[in-house]
Amino acid sequence: MAQTYEEMDAIALLKADHRKVEEIFAAFEKATSKAKKQALAEQACLELKVHTVLEEEIFYPACRGQIEGDLLDEGYVEHDTAKLLINEIEAASADDDFYDAKVKVLSEVIEHHVEEEEKRSEGMFSQARAAGLDMDALADAMRARKVTAMEEFQAGKPAETLTLEGDDTEKALIDTPLDADAR
Ligand SMILES: [Fe+2]
Ligand SMILES: [Fe+2]
Repeated sequence: MAQTYEEMDAIALLKADHRKVEEIFAAFEKATSKAKKQALAEQACLELKVHTVLEEEIFYPACRGQIEGDLLDEGYVEHDTAKLLINEIEAASADDDFYDAKVKVLSEVIEHHVEEEEKRSEGMFSQARAAGLDMDALADAMRARKVTAMEEFQAGKPAETLTLEGDDTEKALIDTPLDADAR
């Protein structure tokens, strides 16, 4: 039976975001007009910015110390790779050289990253499930943050990297078991 948005646990919410972005990238591939392509690329960028904030502020900190650290570190760096392209795409127009190439490469970075998150048994989500994180408490926190993150990014805030030269990398190393009091 299909779950409503309110019923989804953390992993279901994150996977639903993944499917949505995949659909937008697929529509971009089929689009023929530049205006349509730009609208779709910008929609994908917005969805991805909100999604990475939910993971980086809520889901990943709850995973820190509970799942393979290397995998989590790679997740943060993959997000940052995507953010560099997202900020490039948002600053550009579909008429610019390499626009389609940037969107295509972004979709490939995301495809790989989503696989790392969703991979059976050794993926991040499977490890988080096995570690016993409170997926309902995390989902509630993510639903609430999604509303404010959407507002911030719709107002034009760029994506902020966490692991690159000059960044405050502590934010990517934080360990916040948000579900602690639910146990
Ligand atoms: Fe994700
Ligand atoms: Fe992610």
